[in-house]
Amino acid sequence: MNKTSYQIVALTFALSLLLVLDGCAREPSSPAGFRLPDGNANTGRETFLYMHCHQCHTVSGDEFPIVAGEAPPYVQLGGPVTKVKTYGELVTAIINPSHKLAPAYAEDVVSEDGESKMPVYNEFMTVQELIDLVAYLQNRYEVVAPPYDYRIYPY
Ligand code: HEC
Repeated sequence: MNKTSYQIVALTFALSLLLVLDGCAREPSSPAGFRLPDGNANTGRETFLYMHCHQCHTVSGDEFPIVAGEAPPYVQLGGPVTKVKTYGELVTAIINPSHKLAPAYAEDVVSEDGESKMPVYNEFMTVQELIDLVAYLQNRYEVVAPPYDYRIYPY
C-alpha cells in the first residue's frame, strides 16, 4: 500500500470509531426508539369531544359546539404550518403541555408562571385516547411554503 491508501484506511477507521462512540454517548433520556402504535383519527375526534378539548381549542376545518364555562382565548389546532407537526411534538404537547408552549401566542395568554394553562390529563387519559387524539390532530395540519415577498425588478 502506498501512503495515500494508508491515510484512507486510517481515516475510515477514525470515522467508524467516532460513529461507535457517538452511539455510546446517547443520553438515557433520548427519545430514540420511541414509537407508539398508530391511532384512529375518527375515534380521536370523538375523544376530543368527550374530553372537552374544544372548550379551549378550535380545530382547522372542523366545527364543535360551544362549551359553557370559562374558555377563550381559543388556541387553534391544525391549519397551515411551515414544517411538519411531528408525532413527537403532538404527543408532548398533550402529555407535557408546559414543555414547549404553543409558539403562535403571547406567553401570558397561554401560561401562568411558566406553566401552560392546559390541564394535565395524564392521570386519566388512556394511551389509546392519546394516540387517537394525535391521529385526529395530525390530519388537520397542512404544510405550506413559508410566505415570501417577491421583489419585482426594478422596484
Ligand atoms: C382549559 C383550556 C384547555 C383545554 C381544556 C385543553 N387545552 Fe390544549 N392548550 C391550551 C392552551 C392554553 C395551550 C397553549 C399553551 C401550550 O402550548 O401548552 C394548549 C396547547 C395545546 C396543543 C399544542 C398547540 C401548539 O400549537 O403547539 C395541543 C396539541 C393541545 N393543546 C391539545 C389538547 C387536547 C387534545 C385537549 C383535550 C384532551 C386539550 N388540548 C385541552 C388549553 C387547553
